[in-house]
Amino acid sequence: MARHLITSALPYINGVKHLGNLVGSMLPADVYARYLRSAGHDVLAICATDEHGTPAELAAAGAGMPVAEYCAAQHEVQKDLGERFGLSWDWFGRTSRPQNHHLTDHFARRLRDEGFTEIRTTEQVFSPTDGRFLPDRYVIGTCPNCGYDRARGDQCENCGKQLDPTELVDPRSAVSGATDLEVRDSAHVFLRQSALAERIRSWVDTKDDWPHLTRSIAYKWLDEGLQDRGITRDLSWGIPVDPDDFPAAAGKVWYVWFDAPIGYLGATREWADERSADDAGAEELFDSWWRTGRGAEDVTYTQFMGKDNVPFHTLSFPATILGSGEDWKLVDRLKSFNWLTYYGGKFSTTDRRGVFMGEALELLPADYWRWYLMANAPESDDTSFTWELFGDAVNKELVGTLGNFVNRTTTQVVRHFGEVVPAGGEPEGPEAELAARVDERLAQYLGFLSDLEFRKAAGALRALWAEGNVYLEQREPWKTVKVDTDRTACTLRTALVLARLFALASEPFLPDSARRLAAAFDRGLEEVPVLDGSARAACEALVRPGDPVTPPGLLFRKLAPEELDAWVERFGGVA
Ligand code: MF3
Ligand code: ZN
Repeated sequence: MARHLITSALPYINGVKHLGNLVGSMLPADVYARYLRSAGHDVLAICATDEHGTPAELAAAGAGMPVAEYCAAQHEVQKDLGERFGLSWDWFGRTSRPQNHHLTDHFARRLRDEGFTEIRTTEQVFSPTDGRFLPDRYVIGTCPNCGYDRARGDQCENCGKQLDPTELVDPRSAVSGATDLEVRDSAHVFLRQSALAERIRSWVDTKDDWPHLTRSIAYKWLDEGLQDRGITRDLSWGIPVDPDDFPAAAGKVWYVWFDAPIGYLGATREWADERSADDAGAEELFDSWWRTGRGAEDVTYTQFMGKDNVPFHTLSFPATILGSGEDWKLVDRLKSFNWLTYYGGKFSTTDRRGVFMGEALELLPADYWRWYLMANAPESDDTSFTWELFGDAVNKELVGTLGNFVNRTTTQVVRHFGEVVPAGGEPEGPEAELAARVDERLAQYLGFLSDLEFRKAAGALRALWAEGNVYLEQREPWKTVKVDTDRTACTLRTALVLARLFALASEPFLPDSARRLAAAFDRGLEEVPVLDGSARAACEALVRPGDPVTPPGLLFRKLAPEELDAWVERFGGVA
């Protein structure tokens, strides 16, 4: 039994996530966590809402709520949606909780003590009308390069030029439109990433098992030269800088990208606090997952994220960890994803383009989405969501392959033998060949899952399901029942073993349907077969002649063309 720590990029608090966000981090993390648990490992799956920064402040203002209240409410919304999507977190925390404040202070102090921070004075735009400093992207004005009149202070989206807000002509506040902007000096804490660059590179060099996408992004940044980076901001919402530690930056907050990844630890500490009687116990439990000198030496840490998050997880967060000089766990395996697009375009909250988690669950149960999204995950390239592909995945794969096999098998069993596992007959050549093929496909499937190759894993699972239908076509129990009861009994018993195996193997992708299917065989015993290379044999031992079988009913329903057309209409389908 190995120990696995799993985190997915923390969803930002400003609204319900769309299916692209889901497939790029939380969903694959869940499939992997479920797989490892079924294979008998000790898993800790951690996620949280990422709650600080200007976008949270602006979203709260837009909702007419105080920001703390807004975040508390949105956290509950996201937690509820995640659970309804079957995301089996051990803990879903919040970066705004005291545990994360405490750890953020701790890392800042350690970095200071190790000589990796320094105070620098920078020029920031202040808006007297708004009563606040404005982050670069919230200053808009005319681009000095191309004349575009809505250029942002960090970059002109018309000509692409990187800008400094002070270069804009006729600058104004994106928050209020105020034009009475001033430039003020402001002292900030900088993290000396340049001084850590070589240590980070040496560490990345050891990660030759990282996927190409991950490594190439990390090296691109290292080769361009890692810049020192301001890690405090002139905002009011965030983790306050402790004035005793950094008097020059008193009154400021830590930059959201500084405290957010520390949130993986903060959320783990929330979990540990919840499970422990006292502080010492919580610390010990927490350390056993995160500190290599205090129990975490045997933990494998796997992170999941979209490609835009890779620099923060391969460079900046490791800089925080390495610079602390302490034995915190660094990521071992990092799985990153390309973009899921909606008919080739961006999912967009403002344009209401695409499908969001809440809407998806109004249409169909989670397993339909989980299957489609993971079987078409944007691993090697961006992939496009289309209702046509979604309809095919549901109708051909879930309904036509898995559902059809289970339905045919249980219908025949009940019709000819009643609600029990048929007795009689002995396995022959076709059963032995089937067993060999199934074992091989299962081994492939498990290999892809361990390698975090989700599309391939889904393909192997689909091929495993298809073996069931091939076998029924070969043995034709609906025909043999007229002439050979023993033969038919053996065929259907074999098919039932497959159905039980499919429940076990499909659970990581289809937790709810798998539970319903497994319940068909529930004899009230606590036997749980392990999802490893011996799973078929284990299911055979579990499904014994004479045992009760309760048909699970239809696992999936077919989507009608009119239904899909209506969704295209509602969500905007054609590019
Ligand atoms: N909220 C960020 C995003 O949506 C991800 C934060 S990941 C963490 O891209 F590591 F910083 F937590
Ligand atoms: Zn421009």
